[in-house]
Amino acid sequence: MNPKTKILKKLRETKGFVSGQSLCEELEVSRTAVWKNINQLKEEGYEIESVTNRGYHLNRIPDVLTKEELESIMLTDKLARNIVYREVVGSTNNEAKKYVEQHPAANGQESWDGTLFIAEQQNEGKGRRGRNWISPKGSGIWMSLLLKPDINPANASMLTLVSAMAIARGIQKTVAEKSLQEESQDTDRDHAHSVEDEMQIGIKWPNDIVVNGRKVCGILTEMGSEMDYINYVVVGMGINVNTEDFPQEVKEIATSLRLETGEHIKRSELVAEIMFYYEAYYRKFLKTEDLSLLIDEYNELLINAGREVRVIEQDTETVGIAGGIDKEGCLLVKCGEQTRKIRSGEVSVRGLYGYV
Ligand code: BTN
Repeated sequence: MNPKTKILKKLRETKGFVSGQSLCEELEVSRTAVWKNINQLKEEGYEIESVTNRGYHLNRIPDVLTKEELESIMLTDKLARNIVYREVVGSTNNEAKKYVEQHPAANGQESWDGTLFIAEQQNEGKGRRGRNWISPKGSGIWMSLLLKPDINPANASMLTLVSAMAIARGIQKTVAEKSLQEESQDTDRDHAHSVEDEMQIGIKWPNDIVVNGRKVCGILTEMGSEMDYINYVVVGMGINVNTEDFPQEVKEIATSLRLETGEHIKRSELVAEIMFYYEAYYRKFLKTEDLSLLIDEYNELLINAGREVRVIEQDTETVGIAGGIDKEGCLLVKCGEQTRKIRSGEVSVRGLYGYV
């Protein structure tokens, strides 16, 4: 951790004032460094009160995604302990892939396993099937997690389902916490409750996160591998957090957490929650190299379950009732007497009356 992160973390963790002296001693940084970093944090939008003889107090945290902001609240052991933040990039997935090329393994060990790439804005955000992903400045989370799982490449596509679970749970938790905060400040208690209760969040198989019937998040997983060996996996996640308006062409199917809850969500807190769940689910996935330890929880989140879906293959369309997934992440669809096993990537699944 650099001195700025250490200072920010200490300010975050302290309810009252922190004296300049204790910052210097505990964090082993010079007085000048404390002063310089406090000023930089103020310039970045942190409201820090300084009172003679008492020290510093953090009054307000801005909605930023800098390395220091994220490092100071990250709750994980291994994932996202290394963060690469840029204000503007083409695509965070491409940044991650470039990083792999530039940082070859030393002593058989990849230094980059678990690194998180994040940007305020993407100019060439990529969606699935060659589509664009609109990634404007300041309103969303555009991030890519770079991993080196020691698994068979054939099993890597399940990671996308693991990621969807982590994102859905992270969103649920962050919105619930926001409601609690509102509740303690707001006299209108019913309002605070309703935000969380009325938000219906789930996963549209295999990996779109849907809130109240519209998409808030998409995942693009890319892999570099040999027949039996994974060089890297990049899981790119795009989350519409505080977006207030969408271009006409996606308005019907896209939404944001802001539009659905009426609340402004601090993006760094959401990233930290997602990574926290990610670490736990990823560990379980690696244990079995399939979803057997996660299947029940995934199926709880699956919004297709019990609904009529259209399975769209190259030149055929079949209608059936979606069940849950199996341990390989395939969607089980009942078509008449027969239960079909739909593998992700091969086909597209749509609701009968719209997107879900
Ligand atoms: C989809 O089409 O649903 C997938 C969208 C994935 C978008 C994210 S944003 C961060 C990462 N970088 C990219 O260029 N794409 C992914």
